[in-house]
Amino acid sequence: MNPDRIAFAVAADQPGPKINRHIFGQFAEHLGRCVYEGIWVGEDSPIPNVRGLRSDVVAALRAIKVPNLRWPGGCFADAYHWRNGIGPREKRHRMRNDTWGQIETNAFGTHEFLDLCAQVGCEPVICGNLGSGTVQEMRDWVEYLNAPVGTVLSNERAANGHPAPYGVRFWGVGNESWGCGGVMRPEYYADEFRRYSNFLGNYEKTRLYRIATGPAVDDYAWTEVIMRECTNPRFNGAVMDGLSLHYYMNGLTPPAKAPRLMPATKFDAADWNRVMAHGWFLDELLTKHTAIMDRHDPQRRIGLVVDEWGAWYENDPSHPANELYQQQTIRDAVLAALTLNLFIAHAERVSMANVAQVINVLHAMIFTFGDKMVRTPSWHVFDLYTPHQDAIRLPVTGDLQMRTHEDGAYPRVSATASRAADGSITVTLAHTDPTKPVTVELTFAGLPAVGSAKAGRMLTASALTDINTPDTPNRVTSVPWTDFSFDGAKLIATLPPACIAVMSFA
Ligand code: AHR
Repeated sequence: MNPDRIAFAVAADQPGPKINRHIFGQFAEHLGRCVYEGIWVGEDSPIPNVRGLRSDVVAALRAIKVPNLRWPGGCFADAYHWRNGIGPREKRHRMRNDTWGQIETNAFGTHEFLDLCAQVGCEPVICGNLGSGTVQEMRDWVEYLNAPVGTVLSNERAANGHPAPYGVRFWGVGNESWGCGGVMRPEYYADEFRRYSNFLGNYEKTRLYRIATGPAVDDYAWTEVIMRECTNPRFNGAVMDGLSLHYYMNGLTPPAKAPRLMPATKFDAADWNRVMAHGWFLDELLTKHTAIMDRHDPQRRIGLVVDEWGAWYENDPSHPANELYQQQTIRDAVLAALTLNLFIAHAERVSMANVAQVINVLHAMIFTFGDKMVRTPSWHVFDLYTPHQDAIRLPVTGDLQMRTHEDGAYPRVSATASRAADGSITVTLAHTDPTKPVTVELTFAGLPAVGSAKAGRMLTASALTDINTPDTPNRVTSVPWTDFSFDGAKLIATLPPACIAVMSFA
């Protein structure tokens, strides 16, 4: 057997579940330069904008078909009071953002966020304040947004410029309630979740999708308690629609053996292995949390919502530490592709996911540097994966050539295949080996012929530590890829080290 050759078979005749487009979601928090500068520049800014929202960023997010955007946090959500962010902007409360130690002007509030979602063409996901707020405050926010005009709150919305209900259906009920959201026990949070969600109303056609705070990483006991307490029919068990999971590949949380934050752009072979193995550990997390959920919810009505994930490194020394700004390499692009592949592999339970965070913070899609904007390597991964949105997953089998290291194991090549509504088939391949090329053979069962690749693109880098900057915005970028051949019904492709490749067939 040639170790640098892998055979995969795509079963085009065995359709699996639909890949919910919401697993390609994003997350924006009032943290560092994510909202202010990254999204909001204000109407008077020389940076081109529409109603204060920067146009270059909106266009870049539209291009990757962002399906949803979670806001305003994160930890900030449990300190946020929505009334501070509505009404005339010049009268809004200027205050300290206690969570992240910055000044909060509240210039970007509810209406600005929903304008952003409309400009991007995505659905809003609002995380309500359970930690320092009240039931009344959260239920009022829902009414303010979703009730037809005719109530005091909906009339106020109309007076603030939006007579039509917004119809926001995705609601997080608190964030990390085991930590920054209130340091609660799962039993206590379960009671609070039921109390809050009980008062969040369904207005007109908007049936809410209520997301409970789920576990950190491998806290299976948390999942067990929340699932037990929030699906018990005695307690009106139908109020929970989603259970969140947060997993940062940061070297601090399991499966870390020697906890430490790593630099983003200086790494050796051991660091590469650590990040990949920590990324693939998500497979175990999804499997085990799903098994608990299956026991309490065998019909799989409740979705697993991975509403924060991504690489978390040492902050870039060129920026204040509380900005959580880090640069990005092809390593993070490969990690993102592995992660998306795992969400797709677990599509029976994973209903939504949000990479943290969309701009300038942690595992970002976009960096802004004043008036300049740069697409990160991970933006290109999300771009390459757009054909999988709402497509039907097709099984892919093959020897993954698992690599086992001190920090865990990860596959040499991870592959995903899907069939879109128009019948086209897309295959994405993530190659994790940083030094050696690999040849992949793909066969397709149940397809009359695979002679015509509609399109192929590849994302790779000349050097593993290459980064995109305002001066070199396209150093790590995807390029057309046609370097594959056909041997009868078999497709043969050689992948360079550390790359993500996509091909679609009509
Ligand atoms: O994404 C940064 C922070 O990480 C979020 O505010 C919090 O939910 C998580 O701990």
